[in-house]
Amino acid sequence: MITDYIGNTPMVRIMSYDKNELFVKLEGNNVFGSAKDRAALYVLTNLLNRKVITKEDTIIESSSGNMGIALAAVGKQMGLKIKIVIDQSISKINKSLIKSFGAELIEATEADSNGSYLKSRLKIVQDYLAIHEHVYWFNQYGNDLVREAYRETLGKEILRNVPDVEYIFVAVSSGGTIGGIAEAAKSYREDIKVIAVDVEGSKLYEPSTKSIKHFTGIGSSVESHNFKSADIDDHIIVSEIESIKGLDELLQNEQIFLGESSGCVYMGAKKYLDVHNIKGAKCVFVSHDRGERYFEMIQNLKELYHLH
Ligand SMILES: Cc1ncc(COP(=O)(O)O)c(C=O)c1O
Repeated sequence: MITDYIGNTPMVRIMSYDKNELFVKLEGNNVFGSAKDRAALYVLTNLLNRKVITKEDTIIESSSGNMGIALAAVGKQMGLKIKIVIDQSISKINKSLIKSFGAELIEATEADSNGSYLKSRLKIVQDYLAIHEHVYWFNQYGNDLVREAYRETLGKEILRNVPDVEYIFVAVSSGGTIGGIAEAAKSYREDIKVIAVDVEGSKLYEPSTKSIKHFTGIGSSVESHNFKSADIDDHIIVSEIESIKGLDELLQNEQIFLGESSGCVYMGAKKYLDVHNIKGAKCVFVSHDRGERYFEMIQNLKELYHLH
């Protein structure tokens, strides 16, 4: 089965930067295209095995893209009914992929005062749960199983790939990925530093920011349970312009074509090493997915920011 091939993604040594060694974990090599494949497979398998859900149940989730695709694909393979709550910011390709895997889409149309749809997507989920039975909310923002999934899969894999890693850089949104990686890292060696990378315009570390965020996947307008539970040592913020330049750098220097949040976390790692004058360290950054899903968006942003 295709889901047997989720995980065991490449860990590539990309370069030395100011005497630091930099490795990238290429999560876009997962079979449905992102790190979220791991959480979908791990959590749904766990729930079915423990009979918390059965094949008669519907799984609902709010997602801007990768989690929706992963749940739709993994759920289809497991014979589960999947409903994904999306909003207008979703790309055409993500929308049609989710549909093609047979999931049902519900579209949130009301933006909040920040222009974000997250709160209205979550309200749709709550309203649905209130009137329907046999529905399970996957809830990547608050489900402890999501952190457990990343601890047991991605976290342990990073430590097997680079056992003497000193810094791990991870993009944040719901906080599930970084939370699980931090749990694995801290129980392996307490001195491993786990650094969150966020994009300008996200409210996780700068709640009163007025910057506009165009990137999807990374950043959030609300601090979730999984984010608050994550044992994060420090953070760094990167602008969209810097992130796009990072994507070009990776393409030109390493021939690796990644998505928006990966450009952000790559530049975040370099910036953090500079700001803290760190030299000779072994560093891993996690790339959540690949570049194809964002191609059009990045071209539009290059025009907006005059980056041609
Ligand atoms: C491309 C991308 N990067 C980063 C993240 C952040 O991961 P998390 O929500 O686990 O914090 C996501 C989450 O959807 C994502 O899709």
